[in-house]
Amino acid sequence: MSMIRMTPFGTSGYLRNRKNHMTDVIAERSWEDLYPDGICRLSGLIKAVLDQQIVDLPSAAVSDDETRYPVDEPSMRAFLETFFARHVFQLQRSLAEYVASLDFQRCVRFGPLRILDIGSGPAVASLSLIDLVQHTICTGELRASKRPRDFGKVHVLNDTSPICLTTGRRMLATCRELGESLGLMSSGDRVLTLLTAFPHNIRQIQQLASSLGGFDIIILSYVMSPLTEAYGLRSLGTAVRALERLCKPCGRVVVLQDRFQESLIRSLARMLEVEHREQTVTQEIYPPRGDNETYTYTYYDCLYAPRMRVIDRVWRGT
Ligand SMILES: C[S@@+](CC[C@H](N)C(=O)[O-])C[C@H]1O[C@@H](n2cnc3c(N)ncnc32)[C@H](O)[C@@H]1O
Repeated sequence: MSMIRMTPFGTSGYLRNRKNHMTDVIAERSWEDLYPDGICRLSGLIKAVLDQQIVDLPSAAVSDDETRYPVDEPSMRAFLETFFARHVFQLQRSLAEYVASLDFQRCVRFGPLRILDIGSGPAVASLSLIDLVQHTICTGELRASKRPRDFGKVHVLNDTSPICLTTGRRMLATCRELGESLGLMSSGDRVLTLLTAFPHNIRQIQQLASSLGGFDIIILSYVMSPLTEAYGLRSLGTAVRALERLCKPCGRVVVLQDRFQESLIRSLARMLEVEHREQTVTQEIYPPRGDNETYTYTYYDCLYAPRMRVIDRVWRGT
C-alpha cells in the first residue's frame, strides 16, 4: 500500500494524485489571478460593504477579548477594523484551490452553494466566499457550469452573539444590493441564522442539512479556541465529526486558526485523521495606515473532503 498516501483533500493513490496535480495547476492560476503581485487587497465590492458597515458603527475603547469576540456595536467596529480583512484573505487562501476545482463545479451545477459557518462572526466566511467565487467565475474557471447571475447561495450563519448575526445579515444584504447593481450576482441568496451555541444546536443543523440536501462547505474559522475552552478538545472532535456527515460528497470542511494555536489545530487534525497546513498570506493593512503598507500573517488550516477521507481509511485498511 505504499503508493497510497493521505493528502489534505482526502484523496489517495496514483489516479487521485494525478487529479490533484491538475487542480493544483488551476488553483495556482486562480490565486495568482486574484492577487497577481502576491499582496492581498480587498476587492471594490467587499471594501464598499465593509466601509459602509464601519461608518454606521460607533467608535469606543474596547478590550482585546471583545475585539476578537464582538458583543456590541463598538466591539463589532473594532472586529471589522482589526480582523475582518485578515480572515477574509486567509479563508480565500485556504479555499481558492477548492473553488477552482471540478468538485466545486459538481457541487454548484444543480443548485445553490450551501455554506454552513460555525462561529460566523459578521458573515466573514460567506463574504469571503462570495468574493472568491465571483472572481473565479470572472476568470472563467466556472464558466462551463454556471453564468454569474445564476449562482445562488444559502448561507447558514451560527453565532452566539446577536450583534454578529445582525451585522452579518446587514453586510450580506449590502453585498447583494451592490453586487446586483453591478450585474455581478443573483438575487436568489438566502441567509439563515442560528443563535444557539454549537454543538448544542447539532439537531437543528442536522434538520437544516436534510431540508437543504447537505452542505457544500462547512467552516470553523477562528472559533476553535472558544469551543475547546467551553467543551474540551475531545467533544469538539466528536462535534466536528457529526458535522462532517452533513457535508456533500464533493464538499469540504475547513478549519482555520492563527499561528498561536498550532498545537490545538494539530491535535484536532490528528483526531480527525486529516492533515493540517501552515499557510502565509501577505496583505495590505486595513484600514490603510500609509502607502503600500503590507503585513504577512501565518495561520494553520485543515481542509478536507470527509467522505473521501473515509474511503482513504478503507484503502489503507485502518
Ligand atoms: C474570533 S470570532 C471569528 C469570526 C469569523 N468566523 C472569522 O473568521 O472572522 C469567533 C466567533 O465565534 C463565536 N462563538 C463562540 N462560541 C461559539 C459557539 N459555541 N457557537 C457558535 N459561535 C460561537 C463568537 O461569538 C465569535 O463571533
